[in-house]
Amino acid sequence: MTAQDLAGAVAGAAYIVAALLFIMSLAGLSRHERARGGVVYGMVGMAIALLATLWLMVADAWGTPAAMLGLILLVVAVLIGAVIGLWRARTIPMTGMPELIALFHSFVGAAAVLVGWNGALYTEGIPANLEGIHHAEVFIGVFIGAVTLTGSIVAFLKLSGRMSSRPLMLPGKNILNVGALVVFIALTVWYVITPELWLLVVVTALALALGWHLVASIGGGDMPVVISMLNSYSGWAAAAAGFLLNNDLLIVTGALVGSSGAYLSYIMCKAMNRSFLSVIAGGFGIEAPAAKGDDVQGEHHETDAASVARLLEGASSVVITPGYGMAVAQAQSAVADLTRKLRERGIEVRFGIHPVAGRLPGHMNVLLAEAKVPYDIVLEMDEINDDLAQTDVVLVIGANDTVNPAAAEDPGSPIAGMPVLRVWEAHNVVVFKRSMASGYAGVPNPLFYRDNTKMLFGDAKERVQDILAAL
Ligand code: TAP
Repeated sequence: MTAQDLAGAVAGAAYIVAALLFIMSLAGLSRHERARGGVVYGMVGMAIALLATLWLMVADAWGTPAAMLGLILLVVAVLIGAVIGLWRARTIPMTGMPELIALFHSFVGAAAVLVGWNGALYTEGIPANLEGIHHAEVFIGVFIGAVTLTGSIVAFLKLSGRMSSRPLMLPGKNILNVGALVVFIALTVWYVITPELWLLVVVTALALALGWHLVASIGGGDMPVVISMLNSYSGWAAAAAGFLLNNDLLIVTGALVGSSGAYLSYIMCKAMNRSFLSVIAGGFGIEAPAAKGDDVQGEHHETDAASVARLLEGASSVVITPGYGMAVAQAQSAVADLTRKLRERGIEVRFGIHPVAGRLPGHMNVLLAEAKVPYDIVLEMDEINDDLAQTDVVLVIGANDTVNPAAAEDPGSPIAGMPVLRVWEAHNVVVFKRSMASGYAGVPNPLFYRDNTKMLFGDAKERVQDILAAL
């Protein structure tokens, strides 16, 4: 066995260990009690994968000046990337996490496009009988990568508020999307037969435009599904790059990310009563919502912290439904203190968590766990919805779309059909927010005008602390 064979065998074994660690990481991340362990498995797996790849490259390049230079450049690039990544991860607020993830997905897409183009430009060493497969890999890899790149950039712009969360409704948008897919299939066949570079230029431009259009056509309420869908695309883009680079670990890791992202998108679509195929096809079959959802309706009733404290003192059951505003206000610890205080007085307190509350899956669960709220009183929407009608007080802390009755009652609403927490059925509802503004989906909320609803204006953390002081 040569030294290079030995290096290959060691790296192969390390790749298997890394792949197993990634699978254990996914398993750990599926339950919040084990999530921390899942993150550690993922980090260790990635460190092993990076070291093994570097080791393989060193074994290949040793003694060849040009290859050594490539290796040095790679190490410098990894170091620069690691410093920027570490700095962003440390400075990003929790509320900015979803847009950061969207931006990361765009990097995976860009990498897949570059790997694809590289595969098209340097074809030496490919056996003649495998050339067709190689060309198909290049073309499909560039297409998936470019869709992921621009789709993720639009998701980043929408999530960070730099672009409207309303869906772009170009005339004939479904025909545009389906047409782009048909053209892609035809071009793939053409490229496999005659791999001319201009075809690759055309498919890159087509996929960039398609990615942009697919995500721009999705409304704010469907963004959670789009994020997990882009996560899935980034996995497939990585797997495509793995085929081109002949790297087994990249193929396995890409497939893990791709399939788990696809499954998460499916679960989210079910939870939000959306058609999976419709969302991945850029809102296929979803027409522009009727304008009538925009005009609401009546007078709202304002309250203050002292009155809410009195209301809570007289209650025997309280449900708290947190949303994105709790994350913005960083109110979770104050909410946990309030929970403790009420429970000490014998009042039953539970939490109702909507599957897409906040800006990333499990956002509210993470915040409440961080504030040490016991898991057993944190219930999913389906577990608590039927109890809300018998609840004395619901505290809606920084939630809006996820408690909007229009989803259940107004068929013309852009969020019609999306299951929501039916907080309006409770005896009393207190809504904590700073103004009468709409939520992320840009849909007005009739809950604020109901007779049993009181608005408690201001920053959620400050208002909860005021209530604590008044209790
Ligand atoms: P939203 O509908 O986004 O509403 C949050 C509310 O919090 C706003 O109306 C805002 O009103 C209030 N708020 C903001 N800062 C506050 C503060 N400091 N103190 C008190 N209130 C504050 O929240 P939601 O009910 O959690 O719904 C989530 C939305 O995001 C859904 O439309 C969902 O589809 C979308 N989305 C979710 C995800 C995932 S995966 N969870 C990803 C992307 C998008 P004021 O400005 O008046 O204070």
